[in-house]
Amino acid sequence: VRVKGKDFRTVWIEGPNEKPLIRMIDQRRLPFEFVIHNTRNVGETCLAIKDMTVRGAGAIGVTAAFGMAQGVLEKDPEEAKKAIEATRPTAQNLFYAVNRVYEVASHSANSVNDARKEAEAVAEEDVESCKKIGEYGAELLKDSAHVLTHCNAGWLAFVDWGSALSPIYVAHREGKKIKVYVDDTQPREQGGKLTAWELQNEGVDYVISPDTAVAHLLEHGEVDIIIVGSDRIAANGDVANKIGTQVVARIARDFGVPFYVAAPTSTIDLNCSDGAHIPIEFRSEDEVLYKTGRTADGRIEKVLVVAPGSHAYNPSFDVTPASLIKGIITQKGIIKPNAEEIRRVKQVF
Ligand code: MRU
Repeated sequence: VRVKGKDFRTVWIEGPNEKPLIRMIDQRRLPFEFVIHNTRNVGETCLAIKDMTVRGAGAIGVTAAFGMAQGVLEKDPEEAKKAIEATRPTAQNLFYAVNRVYEVASHSANSVNDARKEAEAVAEEDVESCKKIGEYGAELLKDSAHVLTHCNAGWLAFVDWGSALSPIYVAHREGKKIKVYVDDTQPREQGGKLTAWELQNEGVDYVISPDTAVAHLLEHGEVDIIIVGSDRIAANGDVANKIGTQVVARIARDFGVPFYVAAPTSTIDLNCSDGAHIPIEFRSEDEVLYKTGRTADGRIEKVLVVAPGSHAYNPSFDVTPASLIKGIITQKGIIKPNAEEIRRVKQVF
């Protein structure tokens, strides 16, 4: 994608194999500031994943893969793997990517070179898969379609293109007129801050609506189709995604609006039999108690927005049952959310 006329990826790796530098867009500072953050060792990379400098299933997967390339220089691959896997629990892409690089590095006579090569392959596959998801998904979007999405499953959540937003980008480039309703996505506002910023950059028509407006929007016929991303897909087709997704899916069923999930097959976890087995991350209560924004005179400030002294409950993801999902848009085509199709699409590359 292009930001202010320049080509960017969400995360990339530079420098010699013996001194790899991971570079990423600092997503904590978007949409107000565009800053590149660098990590020089696996410890810094783990912190960047944990504190959400980089976020979104695909992007943290690729960062984790690059982190393994740093890790094999500093520790044995097993230790690096453990440190990275302890950063965030829900996104399957992180475990998928770490394992791929670990397997290569731990069986190689030249683990430093081979880990780097495998990590770069994970990144390239992420880009290719997301592009394909866009092509398949765009077929679902008619001219003048109104699409609702939740959270950010755009290119910032991957290396390029994204999952849920990729069909919108492809349709838009094909000349279709698309309007997007962007759930603001409490409590971290990935929709209002990141998805809105991405769509603005691409010139796609959008409006931010509060998460709480979904029933009203659907009741009034404002939305033709819903597309969301995913952090982990269980073997039976249950899908974990950003907190609030399940409510959207339930309302969609009530009003008969098709609800699709877009994800590469690296998000599928065949070892997870159903959604009840997906580990759900709980994050700091500060994400609910405080908001960060820009003041009228241009300063970025974090302010308390609730009754002082309150505590908060902050699960970061929820699970949407397969029964509420019309289809899963993958890089190999659109599949039904059932065990047979999920196994087929995961196993045949
Ligand atoms: O906590 P985040 O921002 O890393 O959450 C992940 C997400 O952005 C969403 O759940 C998204 O819809 C799926 S990630 C492609």
